Amino acid sequence: MALRTNCAIALKALKTFSDQALKRRSPVIRQTPMADLEKGLNLKRLMAEGGLRGETLRAFLGTYLDAATRLHHPGYMAHQVAVPHPMGAVAALVDAFTNNPMAIYEMGPSAATIEYAVVNWMLEKIGWQPMPLPGSAVTAGIHGGGVLTHGGSLANLTVLAAARGRAAANAWHQGNPGNLVLVAPRGCHYSITRAAGILGLGRKAVIDAPTDADGRLDPARLAQCVTELRQGGSKVMAVVANACSTAVGLYDPLREVGEICRDLDVWLHVDGAHGASALVSDRHRPLLDGIELARSVVWDAHKMLRTPNLCAAILVRDHRDLDGAFQEDASYLFHEKDQPGFDFIHRTVECTKAALGLKVFFALAADGEAGIAAFIDRQTALAKTAAGMLRTAPGFEVAVEPQSNIVCFRVDGDDDLQLGLRRRLVEAGKHYVSSAEFQGRRWLRLVLMNPATEVHDIGELIDEIRQLHVPCPPDPV
Ligand SMILES: Cc1ncc(COP(=O)(O)O)c(C=O)c1O
Repeated sequence: MALRTNCAIALKALKTFSDQALKRRSPVIRQTPMADLEKGLNLKRLMAEGGLRGETLRAFLGTYLDAATRLHHPGYMAHQVAVPHPMGAVAALVDAFTNNPMAIYEMGPSAATIEYAVVNWMLEKIGWQPMPLPGSAVTAGIHGGGVLTHGGSLANLTVLAAARGRAAANAWHQGNPGNLVLVAPRGCHYSITRAAGILGLGRKAVIDAPTDADGRLDPARLAQCVTELRQGGSKVMAVVANACSTAVGLYDPLREVGEICRDLDVWLHVDGAHGASALVSDRHRPLLDGIELARSVVWDAHKMLRTPNLCAAILVRDHRDLDGAFQEDASYLFHEKDQPGFDFIHRTVECTKAALGLKVFFALAADGEAGIAAFIDRQTALAKTAAGMLRTAPGFEVAVEPQSNIVCFRVDGDDDLQLGLRRRLVEAGKHYVSSAEFQGRRWLRLVLMNPATEVHDIGELIDEIRQLHVPCPPDPV
């Protein structure tokens, strides 16, 4: 059957899916048991016999979408995953169809050109020199560098591999010297400690950075921490700062931290996977004041740039830091050739790499920077309003005043109660929230990613929690 017919079937199903979700006519989340789904989707038969097109496709999509989690539902307030801009989804289709693995220029010149432009756009937002176009006169001074990769976790790993290369030039060939350490706040994303494990540094090489009571890096004690580590014989490979933190969405004081790292000649890595997008908003950019002092930044587009999964940027102030991160021979790819463009492959873990820049570009170019800025401003304002409503609701407590679109709160009671409430909310399917630990206690967590979520949705969530949290009547005597 023709591509056009199958696309029309898929499009119609997707439109119904998002319309129904937007009107709250279907649950935001429904976890059908996997065994039932496997049967309902007819997976074994379809894989063996084929025929997934036309009416069979329509029926299949009906079952598939019915059991899918609905990010378009205004009650979706759970995780840091974009409700994608529809144009981002169009780009994903173009990428899937053309399938240009653009990490070497000849395999996807248009995709590589777009990635180059997107990386440069991000470098300039940080305040770093963009990369000159290949073939153009090289400008004096250091210029930045970057690449898009499949997710913030891989991006953090790549940056830390680059930082290790600067701290221990022989590590690539001879392995790690035993004294490398990273200094990171306890509340850093787990991909930082995981990267330490993958790089063979060991979890013990991640030293807790001094922080204030809310888990933000404390610049007053950072210099002493680094100095003491050095005096004890450790080589500090990098300091990691959050912009913003995963659990509660707070930004570290980047300017003060950056000045200390510059004075001590330590690599500062800013994990801006969630929060670097605030650079696009004039109102929220000050949260990232001083980011240009970092040596590297990770910035996920599939969080606040409304880009479909996955697309994260690895950005460095000096391109040579990233260019030296990986050192390989691969005769089938790396050899002398005409080079009218740029090969990103030397900067990534991936060999085959999707046209990630296309998805960011479509999401961005649909409404321009003003569209993204308005989205960030709206979602942050909504988070602040939500925190105000929760704070004044009797029996509710808010963890911190939000700086981003993340709000943590809890109701009077122990940690089990919070998890029990989350489970019952998810089962009811009207609101989907996540949860996180902060300051040794468990909180319910809202990540307000959906531009369709309104203030009244927060009010309805509070009402639902109140109804679920009816105190048990005392046991009869
Ligand atoms: C601060 C931070 N860094 C890294 C990540 C990991 O990003 P990804 O899920 O794209 O791997 C996250 C995701 O939640 C994050 O919040």
